[in-house]
Amino acid sequence: MVGRSLPEVGKGCPPPAIISPSILSADFAQLASECDTILKLGADWLHVDVMVRVGDGHFVPNLTLGPPVAKALRKHTDAFLDCHLMVSDPGRWVDDFADAGVDMYTFHLEAVEGEQAVRDLIARVRAKGMLAGLVIKPGTPVEALDPFLPDIDMVLIMTVEPGFGGQKFMPAMMDKVRHLRAARPDLFIEVDGGLGPATIDAAAEAGANVIVAGSAVFGAQDPGQVIQTLRESVERAGASRS
Ligand code: DX5
Ligand code: ZN
Repeated sequence: MVGRSLPEVGKGCPPPAIISPSILSADFAQLASECDTILKLGADWLHVDVMVRVGDGHFVPNLTLGPPVAKALRKHTDAFLDCHLMVSDPGRWVDDFADAGVDMYTFHLEAVEGEQAVRDLIARVRAKGMLAGLVIKPGTPVEALDPFLPDIDMVLIMTVEPGFGGQKFMPAMMDKVRHLRAARPDLFIEVDGGLGPATIDAAAEAGANVIVAGSAVFGAQDPGQVIQTLRESVERAGASRS
């Protein structure tokens, strides 16, 4: 169990700028050194995109990595592991990822049926010593998150359809971010998909403070510069709101 808390990573109002590069865009054959490099260049968290196919069922049409890779990463680094579960049965993997030592377990609201089942899963995630995040796909209305806001550590608003890196940012999703930021000035709001220097201002001005970026960081000539650009935009927008 890790039991890392958000205050430890810096809770406050406005919440801090956190840059969480998606390792989906890293070279998996060099994962440890790619992570080391990106952390040295200023990344705060590592975003771990988990897509698993079980039998014939799948939540997204892709397959990436699971608990053994998360566990190997945990042994290698004490960086905050921000796991995004794109799986059809998120309850099934709680114990495995907790044992692997990840910090944040963010699951899709669409994958769990019924308000009580969502609450129970949040409680299980926390009982296992992880922080609990809830994520919605582009087609899910933001109001669907409202009943759970008091009980979760982070909200993730998808700005592409989950499944693959390198897709185009959907600016219409910023209305969701604005809705959440207006309701909760201190909430950790993460955005994921198509974020980079060209799109960060829209996300930052809407109120996002945790920025996932895969291809824009790992594909850059100067990843450190990209991380800095993302951070400065979030900090500027946060300062102008408070
Ligand atoms: C998509 C994943 C994202 C993705 C982001 O399903 O959740 O984290 O890897 O990649 P970019 O930043 O390239 O859109
Ligand atoms: Zn993701």
